[in-house]
Amino acid sequence: MLSASSPFSLVLFGASGHLAQLKLYPALFFLWQKKRLPEQCAIIGFARSQMDDEQFRKLVEQSIRTHVIEPNEQVLKSFLQHFYYQQGRYDTEADFTALNGRLGKLERGWKDAVRLAYYSVPPEVFATISENLCKGGVHHHSIPFRCIVEKPVGHNLKGFEEIKKMLLRCFSEEEIYLLDHYLGKEAVRNVYYLRFANPILERLFENSLISHVEITAMEDVGIQGRAGYFEQTGMFRDMFQSHLLMVMSLLTMRLQQNGSIREGRLHALSQIYLPHAADLNDIVLQGQYAPGNVRGEEVRGYTEEEGIDAASRTNTFAALHLMSRSARWEGVPFYLRSGKRLDKKETRISIQFQTPHPVGKDSAPNRLHIILQGEAGMRFELQTKLGGTEPAFRPLVLSDPLVCVGDCLPEHGLLILEAIHGVRQWFPSFEEVHTAWRLIDPIQSHLAKADTPLYPYAAGSRGPEEMDEWIARDSLPWLHL
Ligand SMILES: NC(=O)c1ccc[n+]([C@@H]2O[C@H](COP(=O)([O-])OP(=O)(O)OC[C@H]3O[C@@H](n4cnc5c(N)ncnc54)[C@H](OP(=O)(O)O)[C@@H]3O)[C@@H](O)[C@H]2O)c1
Repeated sequence: MLSASSPFSLVLFGASGHLAQLKLYPALFFLWQKKRLPEQCAIIGFARSQMDDEQFRKLVEQSIRTHVIEPNEQVLKSFLQHFYYQQGRYDTEADFTALNGRLGKLERGWKDAVRLAYYSVPPEVFATISENLCKGGVHHHSIPFRCIVEKPVGHNLKGFEEIKKMLLRCFSEEEIYLLDHYLGKEAVRNVYYLRFANPILERLFENSLISHVEITAMEDVGIQGRAGYFEQTGMFRDMFQSHLLMVMSLLTMRLQQNGSIREGRLHALSQIYLPHAADLNDIVLQGQYAPGNVRGEEVRGYTEEEGIDAASRTNTFAALHLMSRSARWEGVPFYLRSGKRLDKKETRISIQFQTPHPVGKDSAPNRLHIILQGEAGMRFELQTKLGGTEPAFRPLVLSDPLVCVGDCLPEHGLLILEAIHGVRQWFPSFEEVHTAWRLIDPIQSHLAKADTPLYPYAAGSRGPEEMDEWIARDSLPWLHL
């Protein structure tokens, strides 16, 4: 069982922000509650906002009380004692020198300590922070160091290459941990283990048996007050380049002889390609939510959200058709789609097998659904004969809720623990991110053009109606549970 047994200090850049309050403080509290963090640890929030240690602890406390049900008061009190705040500017070297002085005091008497810097800030400030971490002495060769970088790493291939270059100017590659939180989700990791721990299942995963695959990530929420981030990013860039391609690579990767999950993912990613199309609109489709009704509540359209320009063309829904050159998957179409303000929250992989020879009435193809978020579970749809003299069928469904059993940790908690221990296999490598951007870049440029269609859909619906016609060109419907 992985625990952070040696002392560590974690400097959290962007400590006043959305991600820190929504995910990082609750995840760290979970680890503390489970006694997975050592007594000798310090979490130092660094941001421009004016706060002292006490005010920062109040902010962390508020985050725990909002996101953790009935936290134990004693445990919360002891947890908060490990939080400190260093106000500073990301572009001021002297503020980092001061941070280093503070770290030195906090770490006094610790043995074999590890230092971590977590970039929970917009990518525009990654370069300055890295430079000043080195200049200010926070990154020092005598102390093991990890730099955790939140996705998306850049906004396109060029931006990614610039960030990579600048990170490598300050840190060695082994010190950099690119974080895609999907890879911290038990259900997502389980795609790998379901395949390779079940040879029976694994043998079904090949093109002579499979018709097509769908990877869907639906959200029922809107942009949750993150207008600035979302306007710059959009659904396509936010979900496809990172999360959905990671899921597809876990699904199509080969088991590596040396056991490297990273190398397996990278190889699978490098096999993914955009099918040839005279018109790029045949392989990608985008939409934007209009006003509608989500579970009985009237909600605004995207362009009426606070902070969003009325003329915005940012996509909040996208679908993409991909293929893999890998021998086992050749010829199998993959349809990826993701959207906000849809009728439900669900992330799932649905595999439809080839249509069987008709041996009776109503026989349907077999399907395997692996539901990663929402009502997580696995459903294998077979066919069984109805009683009677004529062969006719009804579905036979084998299912398991796939609820995490055992040592279940929140995704950010698990990834932070692994980073402390220097375990890198669930952090994408630079090559993986590069490969993903190279694939996504031309599509992203196409979507950004003024004449590329952007289909409206009512909030609370399945998405743009045009998506049915889009997939029907391949004589297929979208799969439903
Ligand atoms: N929120 C999520 O659910 C989520 C999910 C996945 C990935 N991410 C990634 O995680 C990182 C942080 O996300 P977030 O939602 O927490 O962002 P955020 O709330 O917009 O920003 C975090 C903090 O960064 C500082 N900051 C904001 N804009 C800045 C700017 N232009 N220049 C310098 N500092 C700035 C602010 O602190 P001060 O003003 O106090 O310095 C802010 O509190 C981003 O890279 C984002 O892409 C977020």
